[in-house]
Amino acid sequence: MLAILGAIETEVADNRRLLQDPVELRAGHLTVHRGQLHGVEVLLARCGVGKVNAAMATTLLHSAGATSLLFTGVAGGVAPGQQVGDLVVATDLVQHDVDVTALGRPPGQLLGEPGSWSADPAMSGRLREAAGASAARDGRAVHEGRIASGDQFVASASRAAALHTDFGALCVEMEGAAVAQAATSLGMPFAVLRALSDTADHGAAQDFPAFLTGSARLMAEVVEHYLRGDQSKIAL
Ligand code: ADE
Repeated sequence: MLAILGAIETEVADNRRLLQDPVELRAGHLTVHRGQLHGVEVLLARCGVGKVNAAMATTLLHSAGATSLLFTGVAGGVAPGQQVGDLVVATDLVQHDVDVTALGRPPGQLLGEPGSWSADPAMSGRLREAAGASAARDGRAVHEGRIASGDQFVASASRAAALHTDFGALCVEMEGAAVAQAATSLGMPFAVLRALSDTADHGAAQDFPAFLTGSARLMAEVVEHYLRGDQSKIAL
């Protein structure tokens, strides 16, 4: 069964409103809503902000019966030429706030862990098609590439540029790479979709709340395209 996870209420509210025959469950501390979304049985949950919350929720959803996981939420764009409202589908994810360089590891790499965690190619390919179908209508761009996660809200143009040059990231957020690490450890396929609410620069603190609702609505639309697509090609 597919689990759909978001960090904050706005990121999960649209999908929860559309859930048919909803049943509320508890998985540890997590409230999970199970039901039919666009004809597909799913688990929906809100994990809270940050890497620890994201990793805990991923683990609890797996224990509650999830066999694949889709994370949707907003992010700050860090690549040149991006616009608020653009969509990003993760190929792989890094934890940009990890620093074990004193022990000879590259920035972002934990001891005993890979430099980045790869999203499931079939889920991500399907997500890219679904994002493309939504984006084509109003001229938004869909980007596919690396996402950087850390327990930091980035609101500095120089820090944003460094995340792009040092890590090759397209956007920055606070949960995706923790979901990626936990899901990979559990052997659970996952994908991450982000809509840009800001460009992680000095305007980010104002742009983030201003564009949050619109970006969240857009993601719910992409999820609908994703679920209504050819489900034989994706893990559900
Ligand atoms: N989520 C949305 N915008 C963000 C930013 N600028 N930094 C971290 N997480 C974000």
